[in-house]
Amino acid sequence: MEPSWLETRWARPIYLAFVFCLALVLLQAIKLYLRRQRLLQDLCCYPAPPTHWLYGHQKFLQEDEMEKLEELVEKYPCAFPRWVGPFQAFLYIYDPDYAKTLLSRTDSKSQFPNQFLSPCTGKGLLNLDGPKWFQHRHLLTPGFHLNILKPYTEVMVQSVNTMLDKWEKMLITQHTNVEAFEHINLMTLDILLKCAFSQKTNCQINSTNDPYVKAVLELNKIIFYRMNSFLEHHDIIFNFSPEGHHFQELHQVLHHYTEKIVQDRKKSLQDDRTQNTQKRTYQDFLDIVLSVQAENADSFSDNDIWSEVNTFILAGHGTTAGGISWLLYCLALNPEHQQRCREEIRGILRDGSSITWNHLGEMSYTTMCIKEALRLSPPIPSISRELNKPLTFPDGRSLPAGMNVVLSIWGLHHNPAIWENPKVFDPLRFSPENSDQRHPYAFLPFSAGPRDCIGQQFAMIQVKVAMALILLHFEVTPDPNRPPILSSQSVLKSKNGIHLCLKKIP
Ligand code: HEM
Repeated sequence: MEPSWLETRWARPIYLAFVFCLALVLLQAIKLYLRRQRLLQDLCCYPAPPTHWLYGHQKFLQEDEMEKLEELVEKYPCAFPRWVGPFQAFLYIYDPDYAKTLLSRTDSKSQFPNQFLSPCTGKGLLNLDGPKWFQHRHLLTPGFHLNILKPYTEVMVQSVNTMLDKWEKMLITQHTNVEAFEHINLMTLDILLKCAFSQKTNCQINSTNDPYVKAVLELNKIIFYRMNSFLEHHDIIFNFSPEGHHFQELHQVLHHYTEKIVQDRKKSLQDDRTQNTQKRTYQDFLDIVLSVQAENADSFSDNDIWSEVNTFILAGHGTTAGGISWLLYCLALNPEHQQRCREEIRGILRDGSSITWNHLGEMSYTTMCIKEALRLSPPIPSISRELNKPLTFPDGRSLPAGMNVVLSIWGLHHNPAIWENPKVFDPLRFSPENSDQRHPYAFLPFSAGPRDCIGQQFAMIQVKVAMALILLHFEVTPDPNRPPILSSQSVLKSKNGIHLCLKKIP
C-alpha cells in the first residue's frame, strides 16, 4: 500500500517540531530543577516549617495566616523561608537587627505586589528604584515638611465632621451599627483629594457620583482581587479577563481625570502669575509637584507628575483608613483606654468646636494608644525587597543577590522575644520610660531607613484629628455578632469589615 501524503510530506516536520518542543520542555524542567536546588542551597541555614513538594507553605498558611505566622515567629527565631510552590521562596524576617540590616540598604522593591500596582499608579515613589527613586524622593521630601502639613489640619477637621454628621443621621435611637472601614476609607480619600488637588468631590455623601472616586475605589478592589487570584497574576490571563477589561477602562478614567486637573492647574497658575492673584489658602500636593517640575523640567516629566499624584492618593488613603479603623476597634475592645483618651481630649479641646495643629502635640495618652494599635494591627503587614547584592545578617548568616526578602512587620510587632504578652493592648509600652531601652527597629509601622513612609506625619495628623473628634462625639463598642476576620493582603483588612456599635455622647 502507498503511504498517504500526510505520512510522506508532513511526517518529518511534525517529528522535528515534536522533538523541538520536547527539548524546550526538558530545558525548562532542568532550569526549574536547578533553580530549586539553588534556592535550597541558599536557604539551607534557615530552618523552615515542613513543606509540601508542590504547594510549599501556601496551603498551610492559607487559613488564619496571621495566627500561624505568630506561631512560626515563636518557633523559628529571626527568620524562616516561605515556599510559594516548588520553585519560588522568600525569606521572612521579623527580628529588629535583621530589619535594620535590610532597611539600611536600598535594594529594589520585589515584583510582588508592585507589578499589580504599577499599571494603575505608574512609576511613583512607591515603586521606583535606583537613581530615579532617589531623585524623586529628594525633590518631593520638602512637600511633606511640617509647615506644608500644618494648614491641612483644617481640611481634615472638615472631612471628619462630614463623616460624623453622616453617623449622626444614621442614629435610630441613641445607638447605631456601622461598618467603620467603608466610612473611614471615604473620609481619608476625601481628605487626600482636597490635599492633593484641592478637589471637593463630596465623595463621602455620594461616592458614586464622581467618576474619579468611583475609579479609585474599584481599582483598589480589582488590585486586591488580582493579588489573591493566582492565575490572574499573569498579565495575559488578566488582560483578557472581565476584571482586566474593567481595569483598563478605570485606568483611562484615572488618567484623563488627573491629566485634566494638571493641565487646568498649569493654566490657572499661569493666569495667577499674569494677574498676580492667589486664590487658595494652602499649597496642595499638586502645587508642590508642579513647582518641582518648574525647577527641574528635564528630570520631572508630565508623566512623573501623573504617577506621583496617583501614588500619593493610592498609597495614602487605604493605609490611613486601616490605621484609624483598627485603632477604633482596639479602643472598642478596651473601654478603659477609650475613656482615658476621651478625658484627655476633652481636657485639651473642651467641646472640640476648634481643633488646631497645636492641640495635636498635647495628646500624649492618645498618641500612645495610636502607636499601640499600629503595633497590634500594622496597616501594612509586610514589605519586600529583591536583593541587589549579597547581604549578611549580624549573626553571620547570609543571602545571595537576587533573593526575595519579606520583612514581616506583623511578625516583628508580635514577636514575643521583643514584646511581653504581644497580643495584649497595652499603650503604656509606649510611655517614654518604657520606650527608652527598646530597639529602634522593633516598631516599624511606617518602615524605616531611606525608604520609610514619606507620608507618616501626614497620616499621624489625620489619625489624631479623627480620633479626637470621634471620641468626643461617640462611644464605640465592638459588634459581638460580627468580629473581624483578618485577611493579609498588601494592606491589613478584615474580610467581613470592621463592625462597631456607636453610641452618641449627649
Ligand atoms: C497609617 C498610614 C500609613 C502607613 C501605616 C504607611 C506605611 C508605609 C510603609 C510601611 C511604607 C514602606 C513601603 C515599602 O518599603 O515597601 C510606606 C511607604 C510610602 N508611603 Fe506610607 N503609610 C501610611 C500613610 C501614607 C500616606 C498618608 C501617604 C501619602 C500621603 C503615604 C505615602 C507613601 C509613599 C509615597 C511611600 C513610598 C516611599 C518611598 O519608597 O520613598 N503613606 N508607607
